[in-house]
This record gives sequence, C-alpha cells and structure tokens, in this order.
Amino acid sequence: MRTIRAGIAGAGMVAAVHADAVRRAGGVVAGVAASTPERSKAAVQRLNAERAYDSAEDLARSDDVDVVHVCTPNALHGPLVRAALAAGKHVVCEKPLSLTGADSAELTALAADSGLVAAVPLVYRYHPMTVEARERVRAGDLGAIRLIHGHYLQDWLARPDDNNWRVDPAVGGASRAFADIGSHWCDLVEWVSGHRIVELVAAAQTVLPERSAAGRETFTTGADTGAAGAAAAPRTPVTTEDAVQVLFRTDRGATGALVVSQVSPGRKNRLWFEIDGADRSVSFDGEDPESLLLGGRDRTEILRRDNLSAQAGRINAVPAGHPWGYRDCFAAFTADVYAAIADPAPRGSDPAPAYPAFADAARTAHITDAVLASAANRSWIEVS
Ligand SMILES: NC(=O)c1ccc[n+]([C@@H]2O[C@H](COP(=O)([O-])OP(=O)(O)OC[C@H]3O[C@@H](n4cnc5c(N)ncnc54)[C@H](O)[C@@H]3O)[C@@H](O)[C@H]2O)c1
Repeated sequence: MRTIRAGIAGAGMVAAVHADAVRRAGGVVAGVAASTPERSKAAVQRLNAERAYDSAEDLARSDDVDVVHVCTPNALHGPLVRAALAAGKHVVCEKPLSLTGADSAELTALAADSGLVAAVPLVYRYHPMTVEARERVRAGDLGAIRLIHGHYLQDWLARPDDNNWRVDPAVGGASRAFADIGSHWCDLVEWVSGHRIVELVAAAQTVLPERSAAGRETFTTGADTGAAGAAAAPRTPVTTEDAVQVLFRTDRGATGALVVSQVSPGRKNRLWFEIDGADRSVSFDGEDPESLLLGGRDRTEILRRDNLSAQAGRINAVPAGHPWGYRDCFAAFTADVYAAIADPAPRGSDPAPAYPAFADAARTAHITDAVLASAANRSWIEVS
C-alpha cells in the first residue's frame, strides 16, 4: 500500500498533535502551511514536515498531498475544505466544521458527492473508556436512560488579559465556548447514549465584556494584572460567550443539562458526563480518563481500563496502568481515517463510517445554532 501523504494547514497547538497522529497512522507529513510563508518555513522543523507551502490554498491543491488536515482558525475551515475537495483530496477538518449549521450541511453534501473521506476529529470518541461506556449502554446494562448531564469546563480564558482568535466572531464564529468545547460534549454524549438532543433552552453569558486587545496563543494565558492593570491595558469589546448553560430533551424521552465554560478557575479541560438509566448509571471524567464509574443502587463499581469490551479493546493499544492520553485518541482516530483512505471500496454515501465524519460535525453545528437562537430568544427551541 502506498504511504499516505498528509498536508497540514495551520501550525499551532492542534496541528502538532495531527502531525504526530499522521506518523503513528503510518503516513508522512508531506507539507505544512501556516499564516505566512515565513511561519510555514518555521513550522517545518516543529512538525517534522517535508516542506513548507506559501499558503494553505497551495497546499490544498498540491499533487504531492493525498489528505489535507485543516487545523486553522475556524473561519478558514469552509473555504479550505472546498478547495481540498475540489482538488480531489481527502479531508480531516478540525471542529467546528464551519461557522453555521447550514454551511456545515453544505460541506457534508459536497463531501458525500465527492466520494472522498471527510472526517472531523471528535476525538473523545477514541478514549477506550468512552467506548466502554457506549458498549455498556448498547448492551442494555443501564436500562432505559432517564437523565443525561455533565459539563465541559476550562479556565484559560478566565481573565481580562486572556485573549485568542476564538474570541473574535469574525475568526472563531458567533459562538465561542459552545462551538469550541460544548460541541465535543454533545457529540460524545449522543454517541455514547444513542439519544439525540431534539429540543433545548440555553442561557449564555459573556462574563468579561472586554479583554486585552493583544491576542495570545491557544492555551496560553495572560497575567493577573488586577483591576489597575486591567484598566490601563488597551481593551477590546467581547461579543462571544464565555459560558453557556443548557437544558435539553432527547428523541427518546430523556432530559439533560449541560454547563460549558472557559472561565472556570482550576478546570483545565474537564469534559465530564453522567448518563443515568433505570438500573445503572455511567460517568466519565476526561481529566481522569482511566476509569468509569458504574453506579448501582446495590453496588457501585469503578471500572479500570482493563478487561474491556471488544470495541474498546480494538483501540486500547497500551496495557492498563500505562495511561491513555489525548494524543493517543488522535492517533486512534487517524488510524481509522487512514484505513478508510487506503480502502478502495466505494464511499461517500456510507451512512456509518468507523470515524466521526462531516455529518457528525454538521449535527453539532445545528445544536450550536439552536443554542445561540435559544439564548437570544430566551425560549425553548427545536434542533433542526
Ligand atoms: N479536536 C480537538 O480536540 C481540537 C483541539 C484544539 C483545537 N481544535 C481546532 O483546531 C483548530 C486550530 O486550533 P488551535 O488550538 O491549534 O489554534 P492555534 O491558534 O494554536 O493554531 C492556529 C494556526 O493556524 C495558523 N493560521 C492562521 N491563519 C492561517 C492561514 N490563512 N493559513 C494557514 N494557517 C493559518 C496559525 O499560524 C496557527 O499556526 C480550531 O478550529 C480549533 O477549534 C480542535
């Protein structure tokens, strides 16, 4: 089989994770493109890429690239996906797939028509313990699901001196916290539970109406300059939400609640959910992902990453006691995507690929649209 050659558009936090995953899936990083030709050159060594491209558009069209990984700020996703599909390239596009549900649906249709592989790294599906939670639900261990609840909390945007391109709606989109991390939570709990969120009511909050005008790199934080510093530094107004609280109903009669925040001190990247069934509950903590809590009226167990179901065992590449990490999720995801690229079977209309696909990301974009509309109208709203 020919080695799959990847081009990576973007050279920041997640691009480096993709580069690692490409290699672990047996591919090579054929090239990288950052925001300027100079930055592309600087990224070659950091990502261990073969060459720099002057622009992401050049990379997307290059004959030397089989699959384009779109790891740029959100507003560039749609245009780069279109350029890559038009050039006949497979695509791995970061979430959110695009800035609206309607455009995400259009990209999904384009990808289906192309017959190319079109995937989105909703990678929390690749923790062995989230797979195990899903398998327990599918086996009927929980009984009828009644409640689905949890949160996704971070703190790297908690202070007025913290800023990033995600805060600017022209670059990140109209939704910030929800599109950035709430989308991961919704995808994961729908995938684990088999329920779909059909109706919701949301309250969004922008707790910091102004932030430092200076943008910062992702996950780097500003100084705590206190009130005096905050008053002195140049500020820019903020319109995107720092936090959202959502109540929802599912298509199968459960209710749920979700808190999403990028301003929760001490929470670095805490994706936590609990699914409560008639017989048992299951809960997962992304900051402590080596175990699952299986609740029961008579007996509650902590299940370790050992003796797992066949589906969880499929990706569980390191033995229990050797922690499974974020990069391992990306590597397992990329292995599934590259296996699909290598498989000459007809694609495009495949309703259930092994990996999260454009349709899954479009689904989260529709939920994001509903959250924004509900928060603006202060009312329950159906998810389209
Ligand atoms: N799936 C996940 O778990 C996950 C995690 C983090 C980020 N993401 C997504 O990945 C994307 C990138 O996020 P990040 O955290 O790496 O951001 P980042 O700020 O660390 O990196 C963004 C990169 O894009 C580059 N860039 C900007 N304009 C460009 C252009 N015109 N052409 C080419 N490159 C350009 C920048 O130079 C920078 O290298 C976002 O869409 C984000 O939502 C997903």
